[in-house]
Amino acid sequence: MTIQENISLKAYNTFGIDANARFFVEITQVEDLQKLINEPIYKEQEKFILGGGSNVLLTQDFDGLVVKINIPGIEVIEENEDTVWVKAGAGENWHQFVLHCIALEYGGIENLSLIPGTVGAAPMQNIGAYGVEIQDIFESLEAVHLITGALKHFTHEECQFGYRESIFKNTLKGKYIITHVTFKLSKQAQINSSYGAIEETLKILRTKDGYQTRPAIQEVSDAVIHIRQSKLPDPKEIGNAGSFFKNPVVEAGKFEDLQQQYPQMPGYNLPDGTVKVPAGWLIEQCGWKGKRVGNTGVHSKQALVLVNHGNAQGKEVWDLAMQIKASVWEKFGVEISPEVNII
Ligand code: EPU
Repeated sequence: MTIQENISLKAYNTFGIDANARFFVEITQVEDLQKLINEPIYKEQEKFILGGGSNVLLTQDFDGLVVKINIPGIEVIEENEDTVWVKAGAGENWHQFVLHCIALEYGGIENLSLIPGTVGAAPMQNIGAYGVEIQDIFESLEAVHLITGALKHFTHEECQFGYRESIFKNTLKGKYIITHVTFKLSKQAQINSSYGAIEETLKILRTKDGYQTRPAIQEVSDAVIHIRQSKLPDPKEIGNAGSFFKNPVVEAGKFEDLQQQYPQMPGYNLPDGTVKVPAGWLIEQCGWKGKRVGNTGVHSKQALVLVNHGNAQGKEVWDLAMQIKASVWEKFGVEISPEVNII
């Protein structure tokens, strides 16, 4: 474990923003993390915990210590006829972990294929896509307290999952580092292909030349990968952090008023009577889709994604985000908030 100085974070964030960390350390095992917590430099400096860097916008240099979590490992810790419990290190790449599970025919995780980031970051914001959220397959996690170094086990209930939310973004924000996550997967796969585009995409894929029929969960994964690749920019080619904003939730009355004015407006009724509106639709209606502003812009195939066309500063992306937020507010009276972490 070596603490480095003045390190560029460009390679460590999928937006590809070139901001510097004053101090930088990579952690590959829990014991090293606990050792680090006792070091004077750790106690003195402001800390920023980094996973895959796929959900962060760096608007300035970080004048503190960046702790990059690289803890590896995937192991089956328990299984019976129907279910398998798989424990993974926080530093494992999320998509590689998903593919590993699918290859072993462990189901439930396939809809979450190709999401950038790491295993440890995934529960923080309860990642979700195509009708599945991590909370659906989550068993428990282990995390180290940032001050005492004590290792704590968190049950599903203790994580307080919500839409792109968990306790680690709320009351325990900045208090713990997730080191391992355990998932509960199914050996008798019940696929979930109800999310609109999956079934359609499967039909198209199956008719393609050379497409071999595969186990159902692999097919769903193929479909999700296909959909994501067609809508979302690949961070290796164009910097981005996936959805920049969360989909806002409005009161039913407000949604009715809006739909009178904009009959095409999509909305999903939530169990508590409120309505979730796709921020991508609102942003597109404000004319932002595909727009370029200096080095930054709005993706041409999904307006919820802001991109770095090359050499953008985090501040530029942030300014664009604030302009978008203001225009959505002005047109619809709906407030949209960032989904990414702003540093
Ligand atoms: N839409 C538009 N214009 C756009 C984008 C979307 O009109 O530019 C409309 C679509 O027509 C559709 C609706 O918005 O009716 C929903 O679009 P989509 O299915 O693409 O999903 P989303 O709500 O925009 C969410 C997640 C994504 C996830 C997809 C699929 C959030 C903030 N985003 O996007 O997650 O992949 O659903 O499940 O909830 C991420 O978090 O980084 C992410 C990519």
